[in-house]
Amino acid sequence: MWDFAGRDTAIDLGSATVRMHVRDRGVVCREPSVLARCRRTGRILALGSPARDMAGRNPDVTLVRPIREGAPTETDEAEYLMRYLVRKHHRRHYTARPRLVVTVPSGLTSVHYRALQFSAYQAGARRLTLVPTPIAAAIGMGLTSSARPEVAVVADIGADVTDVGVISFGGLVTSHTAHVGGSALDRAIVAMVRREHNVTLSVSTAEQAKLEVGAVPPLGRRPVRQTVVHGRDVATGMPREIVLTTVDVGRAIAGPVAEIVDAVQAGLAGCSPEISGDLLGVGVTLTGGCARLPGLERLIRERTGLAARIGDDTGDAAVLGAGEVLRSARSQEPPARQTSPRPQVLTTIPEFEH
Ligand SMILES: Nc1ncnc2c1ncn2[C@@H]1O[C@H](COP(=O)(O)OP(=O)(O)OP(=O)(O)O)[C@@H](O)[C@H]1O
Ligand SMILES: [Mg+2]
Repeated sequence: MWDFAGRDTAIDLGSATVRMHVRDRGVVCREPSVLARCRRTGRILALGSPARDMAGRNPDVTLVRPIREGAPTETDEAEYLMRYLVRKHHRRHYTARPRLVVTVPSGLTSVHYRALQFSAYQAGARRLTLVPTPIAAAIGMGLTSSARPEVAVVADIGADVTDVGVISFGGLVTSHTAHVGGSALDRAIVAMVRREHNVTLSVSTAEQAKLEVGAVPPLGRRPVRQTVVHGRDVATGMPREIVLTTVDVGRAIAGPVAEIVDAVQAGLAGCSPEISGDLLGVGVTLTGGCARLPGLERLIRERTGLAARIGDDTGDAAVLGAGEVLRSARSQEPPARQTSPRPQVLTTIPEFEH
C-alpha cells in the first residue's frame, strides 16, 4: 500500500529561512528562502544556499525572495520552492501527495492566505492545515503540555515579522503581527554606514556584522567587540574596509529594536484584565532567530514588566510545533483519503497523543 503519510511534512515558510520537519526524522531542512533566476531565460538556476551565494556576483542572475513578511508574495516561486524541498526530502515516495502543515503569521491578510493556499495545492499538497506562528511556536517550545499553566505568551521575532500571541486554555485569545524583525536591523546598519562612512554595504554583510557584534544598548558589562566589514565607497566606487563596534551597531539598530518591543507590548495589550493578571506569572517566551539578539530579552523584560526568556531552539520552535500538529492531524484523519480543497486554519491547540 502507498504510504502517503510518509511524505507528510510540516513547513515553516520563513521570510529568511524555510524549515521542514518530517516525522521521525526531525527538522530535515533549513534553507534560505531564496531562488536564483536567469535574467535572460527566466529559468530557476538554484534554490536555497547556492542561490544566495550567487547574489550580486553574477550579472545574469536575479535573486527572488518569494516569501515576504511571512507569506508568499511570488506565488510561482513559492510553489517551486515548496515542491522542490518536499521532493528532495522524500525521494522514496516520489509520486505521493503530502499532507502539509504550514505556519502563517497570525495577522495573515486574505490576499496572502489565498496566495499560500494556491502555492501549497499547486506544489502538490493533498491536504493543508495552516497554523498561526504563535500557536506553532508555543507547541514547539512545549508551553502547552498539560503540566504547564493554561496561559502562554509567545513573541516570535523572525526576519520580517514579529508575531505575538496570547494563548489561553488552548486557544489564541489575542495576537499582534508587526512587520519588523531582524531584516529591519540589517537595513538600519546599511543606512547608518552609508550616512556616517559614505560606504554602501550589502545587506548580508550588515547581517553578518549584526550576528558578530550586535547587541541592544545599554551594554552594561557586555564586552564591546568589533568587526571589519567591506563595502563600496560611494564617492570613489572603490572597495573600502571599515570597523564596526558593538556600540556602532547598537546605535544603528535602536529604531527597529524599539519597534519590536512596541510590537510585543501591542500584542499583550489586547488581553482581558483576567488574562493580563495571569501574564505576570507566566511571562513571555521569545522565539524566532532575532530573539537571540543579545540584550533584547532584557529590554522586553524592562518595558513590559514581564519575565522574558529565550527558548533553546528559537529558530526551530515554529516548525517543531507544526510537526506536532501534523502528528495530531494524522491521528484524526478520516479513513477515506480524499483531496480537501479548503485548508483548515488551526486556532486552537489540538489534543496530542502522548
Ligand atoms: N544570534 C542571533 N542574533 C541576532 N539575530 C539573529 C541571530 N540568529 C539569527 N538572527 C536573525 O534572525 C532572523 C531570522 O530569524 P528566523 O529564522 O526566525 O526568520 P524567518 O522565520 O525566516 O522569518 P519570519 O518569521 O519573519 O518570516 C534574521 O534576521 C537573522 O539575522
Ligand atoms: Mg519565522
